[in-house]
Amino acid sequence: MSIRLPRGTQDILPEDAVVWQHIEKVAKDVCQSYHFEEIRTPIFEHTEVFTRGVGDTTDIVQKEMYTFKDRGDRSLTLRPEGTASVVRSYVEHKLYGEANALTKLFYTGPMFRYERPQAGRMRQFVQFGVEALGSANPHLDAEVLALLIDICNRLGLVNLKLVINSLGDKESRDRHRQALIDHFAPSINEFCSDCQTRLDKNPLRILDCKKDREHLLMETAPAILDFLNEESRTYFENLKQTLDQLGISYEVDATLVRGLDYYNHTAFELMSTAPGFGAITTLCGGGRYNGLVQEFGGPETPGIGFAFSIERFILAMKAEGVALPERPQLDAYIVALGEEANQRAAVLLHELRKDGYRVDKDYMGKKMKAQFKTADRNGATCTIIIGEDELANEQAVIRHMDSGEQKTVSLHSVAVELRESIKGGAGL
Ligand code: HAM
Repeated sequence: MSIRLPRGTQDILPEDAVVWQHIEKVAKDVCQSYHFEEIRTPIFEHTEVFTRGVGDTTDIVQKEMYTFKDRGDRSLTLRPEGTASVVRSYVEHKLYGEANALTKLFYTGPMFRYERPQAGRMRQFVQFGVEALGSANPHLDAEVLALLIDICNRLGLVNLKLVINSLGDKESRDRHRQALIDHFAPSINEFCSDCQTRLDKNPLRILDCKKDREHLLMETAPAILDFLNEESRTYFENLKQTLDQLGISYEVDATLVRGLDYYNHTAFELMSTAPGFGAITTLCGGGRYNGLVQEFGGPETPGIGFAFSIERFILAMKAEGVALPERPQLDAYIVALGEEANQRAAVLLHELRKDGYRVDKDYMGKKMKAQFKTADRNGATCTIIIGEDELANEQAVIRHMDSGEQKTVSLHSVAVELRESIKGGAGL
């Protein structure tokens, strides 16, 4: 029996890897222009990071974590998301420094959730995320959203819908929580067993239930926006105003609750509206988490961030017909015949690479014709031919593959001549 990759995972082969590199590079460049810096945290953490951070009534913690005991009997978990880890690290390394410091971080890496795989839903997926810690200023919320839209636009994604909501502060959420209990309690027997437990522990999660989505009481459930106190409402109004000023369009959806427990105030999701995009339309999710740093033993520090998966971005780019980058092609392929010529080719290859050229040669002992074929298959702009005659005269022939034009040059001047040949194209 041949061994295959595990369900919900994928191999990213070279032709796809260039698309991944492109997305990661664009996202990093945009982050850096917004003054966000990279942070890298471990792929596994103590399980408590997530039970405490993400919340132990969430689906992620209840059903989706890859948790295992190591040989020292410690409970560890492959990270299902990045925020809890980043906050754990922020507290552990006291990144808050002096009071009133703003820390802006981005990260990328694999996350793991035991979900039912389908297009855009993997068990191992790669998130790109940002977290801004230290300020509760709606302008910062707007900046984070502007950053997200900027990344999307630079990747060619334009069929987007930004949906925002406010989950308010603790007081607002407590009032909403009671209203939810009053609303669902009389009929809770009609709901799934998960929801029955959620009623006492965390009734907000009922609104997120996949099984009871169609229940009539879901539609009429009290909306958090009606329970916002003055402060929370003002915060949300300020955010909307700033988004208007920045020309970022959005819709308010009072039913948006998000699947993780740490959120308060701003919550948002970015959807793809591209025709042909699969059943799962959410490209990115995020929001504010003002109590999370304290939860990890740090000082009172507000935070906001988002994460998207590269997998879903690629699906969206394909659905929008964005031209995807192709594998980089060779500047030149050295075609050499015979042992001596091959030795000289190896030296030349080394020199050209030091000069920054993308070059390669044959190692399979192929005949000349086959070497030209390989050069062609690799999209080499030029071939550098070293045959017996050329070798005897310390020369090489540079041939431009498209035009077929060629010139004989001294072996010592190949590096300079090659630059001309690549630039000049047919003008050899
Ligand atoms: P999340 O909504 O659980 O939020 O996930 C964020 C994004 O990760 C989703 O919108 C989607 O693009 C991607 N994603 C999630 N699960 C999968 C999956 N199984 N397969 C492929 N892609 C997936 C968070 O993770 C929060 N940490 C976001 C955040 C950062 N909030 C504040 N800061």
